[in-house]
Amino acid sequence: MEAVNSSSSISELDDISRLLDRPRLNIERKRSFDERSFSEMGIFETLNSPGGRSGWDTPVSSARNSFEPHPMVAEAWDALRRSLVYFRGQPVGTIAAYDHASEEVLNYDQVFVRDFVPSALAFLMNGEPDIVKNFLLKTIQIQGREKKIDRFKLGEGAMPASFKILHDPIKKTDTVIADFGESAIGRVAPVDSGFWWIILLRAYTKSTGDTSLAETPECQKGMRLILSLCLSEGFDTFPTLLCADGCSMVDRRMGVYGYPIEIQALFFMALRSAMSMLKHDTEGKEFMERIVKRLHALSFHMRSYFWLDFQQLNDIYRYKTEEYSHTAVNKFNVIPDSIPEWVFDFMPLRGGYFIGNVSPARMDFRWFALGNCVAILASLATPEQSAAIMDLIEERWEELVGEMPVKICHPAIESHEWRIVTGCDPKNTRWSYHNGGSWPVLLWLLTAACIKTGRPQIARRAIDLAEARLLKDGWPEYYDGKSGRFIGKQARKYQTWSIAGYLVAKMMLEDPSHLGMISLEEDKQTKPVIKRSYSWTC
Ligand code: GLC
Repeated sequence: MEAVNSSSSISELDDISRLLDRPRLNIERKRSFDERSFSEMGIFETLNSPGGRSGWDTPVSSARNSFEPHPMVAEAWDALRRSLVYFRGQPVGTIAAYDHASEEVLNYDQVFVRDFVPSALAFLMNGEPDIVKNFLLKTIQIQGREKKIDRFKLGEGAMPASFKILHDPIKKTDTVIADFGESAIGRVAPVDSGFWWIILLRAYTKSTGDTSLAETPECQKGMRLILSLCLSEGFDTFPTLLCADGCSMVDRRMGVYGYPIEIQALFFMALRSAMSMLKHDTEGKEFMERIVKRLHALSFHMRSYFWLDFQQLNDIYRYKTEEYSHTAVNKFNVIPDSIPEWVFDFMPLRGGYFIGNVSPARMDFRWFALGNCVAILASLATPEQSAAIMDLIEERWEELVGEMPVKICHPAIESHEWRIVTGCDPKNTRWSYHNGGSWPVLLWLLTAACIKTGRPQIARRAIDLAEARLLKDGWPEYYDGKSGRFIGKQARKYQTWSIAGYLVAKMMLEDPSHLGMISLEEDKQTKPVIKRSYSWTC
């Protein structure tokens, strides 16, 4: 494959954007990229998967040398800009969906914190950091407010799930109305919002080199409030964070209560991000000490007990139960009979993943894409585990990617289990929505994980799948079906994070140096004490 000469590709881009009269993309930092670039670029020295496959056996994508922008890119930028939300004339976020055809708006006209993350990354990658700064400052103001659900006062540091701006054309005023779960369907708590906020603050700082925002008293206090909430001591015996169901992207009852992988991975990433931004003053140092201790325990716990590969599965299958005291091997008293049938067929000889949840006598063996990708990006996964997660994605491509990237979780729950676990939720029927649906937004996370592990081919293959349909289908929120072939039953169109997720994936693949804003290198101090006698990958 030939690397496209970057100067010619830049002038081509110039011509095309002029011709199309589209917003001009900031392309200075873009450079062509092929597999060789990994070894050429110093920053990726540590990214190649140790002992892992290099990804060359992933089928070669048809669009390998496409460094002239895909027509979808300009369309996506137009759609993304249409979703902008303004406060007193300044852009402060993007609405969840700009779907005029849908009768029910619900809360899709709001700026969701989690949904804004890919929009923010797209703007940062395109050299437009102001909207991200405005968003970070606006949300920190909302965080400081008193919030109540019925008569119950929420923790001070809680970040909203979403907010909207009310324009009063007569009084000419703008008012922010935030939702901390008190209006949300099911009154779910957005535990992920605060973590995403910290992660985004780091992305902004990394991408712009402007440390002054993170250093402001407002941002330092905002971080400390979030940290106080999630580091507070309670009755827990585990370093993982205990949550109610519906506390993150999966914001309906789906059996993710307890210690869901998505929250644990975001928690870990937010703690590490905060470490790099807290000031070394008295208050900052106190939090840093608590963070170091928690990270140490959290990484050990996750890498040891959430990790599942063929060997570990076999060990659990042979577990003895009712073991008492410190010598127990089966610490959580997991009963082997509770291992679901599907997992024996699903688990390849090569590969592994962090399972959905671990708590007393309970292992939720489901695969969740977001948690596993974030675990790779945050280096919660060891390099060997990261490589194994990518091996699994390759080995189980049909199940985990199928016809539309990326499955939110696998497998779906159905029949009696669906009735019990979801409370008969008609939106989360099998292979739909949160219950095994396919979410295009996850493409950016998959792409980032692919780049970090040195397997761009996998991302390219996934992006090709998305390009075949996303624009034509009107950027749906999610797809349904075992292989993600059908536009979701109740999917919104022009879902902003589907649009932004695609743009971020494209920009990262074209210029992998963008990865730095959303990825953390392995921290040598948290290297795991591997307690088992075998290696992580078999
Ligand atoms: C749905 C999704 C949630 C998302 C929101 C706005 O509630 O489950 O993850 O943030 O829509 O798009």
